[in-house]
Amino acid sequence: MLKKYAFFKSLFFSLLLLIVANSCGICQSTMLQNIYGRSYTNLNGRWNYIIDPYEVGFYDYRHIPYDISVSGKGGFYDDRKLKDKGELIEYNFDLSPNMKIPGDWNSQAEKLSLYEGTVWLRQKFNAAPQKDKKYFLYFGAVNYEAHVYLNGKKLGVHKGGFTPFQFEVTGKLNFGENFVVVKADNTRHADEIPTVNTDWWNYGGITRDVLLAEVPATFIEDYQIQLAKNNLKLIEGFVQLSGTQKSQSITISIPEAGIKQTVTTDTAGRAAINIPVKKMSYWTPENPKLYHVEIIGATDKISDKIGFRTIETKGQDILLNGKSIFLRGISMHDENPLIPGRLRGQGDMRMLLQWAKELNCNYVRLAHYPHSEEMVRLADEMGLLVWAEVPVYWTISWENAATYNNAEKQLSDLIIRDKNRSSVIVWSVGNETPLSDPRFVFMSKLVAKARSLDDTRLVAAALEVHSNGNTMIVNDPLGEKLDLVSFNEYVGWYWSNTKDMLNYKFDIKFNKPVVVTEFGADALGGFHSDDETRWSEEYQELLYKNQFTMLSAIEGLRGMTPWILVDFRSPRRVHPYYQDFWNRKGLISETGKKKKAFYTLSSFYDQIKLKY
Ligand code: GCU
Repeated sequence: MLKKYAFFKSLFFSLLLLIVANSCGICQSTMLQNIYGRSYTNLNGRWNYIIDPYEVGFYDYRHIPYDISVSGKGGFYDDRKLKDKGELIEYNFDLSPNMKIPGDWNSQAEKLSLYEGTVWLRQKFNAAPQKDKKYFLYFGAVNYEAHVYLNGKKLGVHKGGFTPFQFEVTGKLNFGENFVVVKADNTRHADEIPTVNTDWWNYGGITRDVLLAEVPATFIEDYQIQLAKNNLKLIEGFVQLSGTQKSQSITISIPEAGIKQTVTTDTAGRAAINIPVKKMSYWTPENPKLYHVEIIGATDKISDKIGFRTIETKGQDILLNGKSIFLRGISMHDENPLIPGRLRGQGDMRMLLQWAKELNCNYVRLAHYPHSEEMVRLADEMGLLVWAEVPVYWTISWENAATYNNAEKQLSDLIIRDKNRSSVIVWSVGNETPLSDPRFVFMSKLVAKARSLDDTRLVAAALEVHSNGNTMIVNDPLGEKLDLVSFNEYVGWYWSNTKDMLNYKFDIKFNKPVVVTEFGADALGGFHSDDETRWSEEYQELLYKNQFTMLSAIEGLRGMTPWILVDFRSPRRVHPYYQDFWNRKGLISETGKKKKAFYTLSSFYDQIKLKY
């Protein structure tokens, strides 16, 4: 009898968990466009945290989640005060250590450097909610799975370590003190995006801003204001309202471009935008002109800084505002090499992008996942074109529908967030994914999704090459669906060496612009030897020179993003002397030292500039 009872009880709770987990997934509201243009309270700062490797703050001793357990008590999210001395509470945020948020936990506590699991984070804050306003709790990113609670009540769950999410908390805020608790879990899983094997550090936690946004009851939720596809004379897009007063007159004003147009939103709160362009200074890396744009309605208004440019391909050419361009790029991770950890703010970001400018770049590949909105806004301001990417990386679970939905959600959130950023010219749907039919279906659906959300930008992926003797062949069937032929090749490092690499050549099966997404070699900054000795700066320098010779033979070569601007941390790189958990392919070391190859690439790009 007892056995039967136990079986039905665990079945009941598992079903209940499934319902709660799924319903929580829909607790997230659609994303507020341009969060930084809103009125918000910044919840960044020092958050108390509790390391919980066995998730005792989430499950009772029968492994039933407290979220749905009968008692409903015991989870670390209710941050209860001791009601009477008889109560047993085995945790206490006030007495726990704290860490800086935004910030990964790995770089803030020695014991968390390699930690993979759950950490609970709590912040207290004051609020004065107004009756005629709506409130949203916004997270720039939490890696990887976040369960979010406000004042002891669950708001919902989010998965994905690099895209923003938010929960509407209207009517859930106390007038006075509130507290938010996040259960962040960076455990890797085979069916997630990314999967278990990556070549970067698995930084966990609340790595980007946490904001409490306040908007009018009917507000401007989303908008797109960009040049129409391949049309320098037309601004196209939409405005989307949310709330009860859906039909409104909305004025789009771009004073410096002599533009002021009024549209009327329909009963769904949406209006299309079609504005002829009379005079405009088009955005380019050399002239990154951003216009002050205002969107004004009866109940809400918001302003943004937007650049206007077109990007297209024509045969093997890439045209920016109708003019041929060569993408003088470099790849980079979202990591500060000098103080290892996720980029912490504009100072970090500006440092990396300034190094790219010093390298004579007009383009950066923000690998292998969405970087922060501020990073992309800085690229707008500093004049660097951007390849944006989702972490569909290596050996994904191609036949798992939930994995695909996760990938599509991350791609959609990236495009929704950055669709007004002139610097972004490429949506990349993945990196080095091994060929198979299920992978082709999965990636093709992502390409179609990207195009359905935004037909004004290029869609690409870092493909794999395969070799036949000394010939590197690029014939990945996915290439047919992409605007660029982009691939990673490590001739001279993983294949061959500096002595023999010039015997290699490329056989590219597509008549499209070629933008090589990766090549490079490890070099330990400051280690010098002859140019056939691996790990030396001289080896890396000669490899770059040979790569330029080899790649320049490709007729359709229109760009490259060598791997990589700075050394970065990776658990895969364990050589005790040369690596020590660092991938050393950076052109700059983790001490900020520019290696010899930095200058080799910089002068190569100087030569390229003369030709375009
Ligand atoms: C791959 C991969 C990178 C990795 C690099 C390397 O191409 O895309 O993420 O860091 O090679 O091996 O250094």
